[in-house]
Amino acid sequence: MTTRPVTTDDAGIPAPSDEHSLSVGPNGPLLLQDHYLIQKMAHFNRERVPERVVHAKGGGAHGIVRITEDVSQFTKAGLFQKGAETPLFLRFSTVAGENGSADTARDPRGFAIKFYTEDGNYDIVGNNTPIFFIRDPQKFSDFIHSQKRRADNHLHDHNMQWDFWTLSPESAHQVSFLMTDRGTPASWRHMHGFGSHTFLWYNAAGDKYWVKYHFKTDQGIRNFTASEAQALTATDPDYHTRDLFEAIKRGDHPSWTVNVQIMPFEAAADYRFNPFDLTKVWPHSDHPEITIGRFVLNRNPENYFAEVEQSSFEPANLVPGIGASPDKMLQGRLFSYPDAHRYRIGPNYLQLPINQPRVPVHSYNFDGPMTYRNPHDPVYAPNTAGGPAADPSLYSGEHYHVTGEIIRSAYIKHAEDDDYVQPRALWENVLSETDRAHLVSNIVGHASAPEVTTDMKHRVVDYWNNIHKDLGHGVAQGLGLA
Ligand code: NDP
Ligand code: HEM
Repeated sequence: MTTRPVTTDDAGIPAPSDEHSLSVGPNGPLLLQDHYLIQKMAHFNRERVPERVVHAKGGGAHGIVRITEDVSQFTKAGLFQKGAETPLFLRFSTVAGENGSADTARDPRGFAIKFYTEDGNYDIVGNNTPIFFIRDPQKFSDFIHSQKRRADNHLHDHNMQWDFWTLSPESAHQVSFLMTDRGTPASWRHMHGFGSHTFLWYNAAGDKYWVKYHFKTDQGIRNFTASEAQALTATDPDYHTRDLFEAIKRGDHPSWTVNVQIMPFEAAADYRFNPFDLTKVWPHSDHPEITIGRFVLNRNPENYFAEVEQSSFEPANLVPGIGASPDKMLQGRLFSYPDAHRYRIGPNYLQLPINQPRVPVHSYNFDGPMTYRNPHDPVYAPNTAGGPAADPSLYSGEHYHVTGEIIRSAYIKHAEDDDYVQPRALWENVLSETDRAHLVSNIVGHASAPEVTTDMKHRVVDYWNNIHKDLGHGVAQGLGLA
């Protein structure tokens, strides 16, 4: 016979009853002295932390990355040295939906990785697309507001979405991806991940390179058609969450090949596209992908809230050998994420097991809500008491010279910069006939929502005409405007 543990309250005191509150007689009123009942009700009222303002719905898993190639000439980062094995946690998500919304909605998918490296946490907080809707963080909250709910009726509004997109031509590349069937992936296992931004790599000698990350699914790309995705939205809104959990549980561990594109530091200045513009890719013909390793997801979380909901990723977590680039979006994100975590989880979010680095922490930050790890004396730097001391040499390769007038402006255009040239290449050279037909029908379906006005439909046609006349024509026909 198995012996069951005795229920306790959170202080470990044995509980008097799992079912009955303390009352005056069997039918009487309840007593304030029933501490067990009060604790249960009060704790229940505090079960939620605010959901993420974006990427609220998601799931995740633990895994490991193994580096198989020597890229020490490009970066000295320990996790990218040949033979290195680093544990990681990966969270997938949709962007616009609230916690509880359907996994299969048309949306980019978040692809956020936390590597627990020997130099502290390194986070790559990317998406399943190599590009983004905008190129200046000034527009991020406006963009997200247009994707979420109206102020008056609290409804999503496709007219509002197209209003923002058609007034923001830089969105054309990402909206093209979104409206193909890659906007409705069949599972998180069957999609690529991208670091999306350009990052800085530097080697032990201080030589600098720009890098882009591509995580290519080893399961192959699989997408749903719009109608398949829509059907699951109604019948199984947690489809992707379940798919990942069940696959890992049955030992079918998904993996991704880690590829990078490398650009010499000096080549950025006169590259044909602005290499820091997040709405652009680096064409493979200029910078082929190099395989450097592979990662696998092999362990499910044991507790969703503790490991997935409270996981906190930040693009500012960059380890020696890796730095930021001047991508304005990345610069904005360096601030935004830790700020969000301090609000959503609390100032000591990095002390939670899921976010805790797997190396000793010798920070001079201390105290605050829920502290359980504090520095020893001395509690200040500099000091003569033998406390931790920074090592600037670790970051010596990160430095470079910039100069300029303080200004609010678009990026200076590089030779081939244009909002439509890369989505046009996608339409002309990459998409199959079926992909193109689905792109058109997905756009038409989206822009046919009852709230989209006729004036807006004309603007939608103009938007796609800028990419390709055939695309614009197909959309116009579908919307009955041909
Ligand atoms: P390439 O032909 O070398 O690369 C095209 C890329 O598109 C491949 O990575 C391919 O790999 C991916 N792709 C294939 N089908 C689709 C699809 N239906 N939707 C989105 N991506 C798809 O050409 P370039 O590098 O010159 O790029 C041409 C255009 O391809 C770009 O303007 C961009 O729109 C798109 N693209 C480019 C990427 C890059 O980093 N250079 C990455 C992804 C897309 P896979 O099928 O494995 O994803
Ligand atoms: C989540 C801000 C652009 C990918 C978030 C969160 C914020 C945010 C505040 C919620 C964080 C939390 O509460 O845990 C911004 C800002 C951006 C921006 C200000 C632009 C200036 C991007 C881009 C990408 C991206 C370009 C991808 C390339 C993600 C992902 C998450 C996220 C994957 C979810 C991370 C997780 O799983 O916890 N973003 N974001 N964001 N963002 Fe962004």
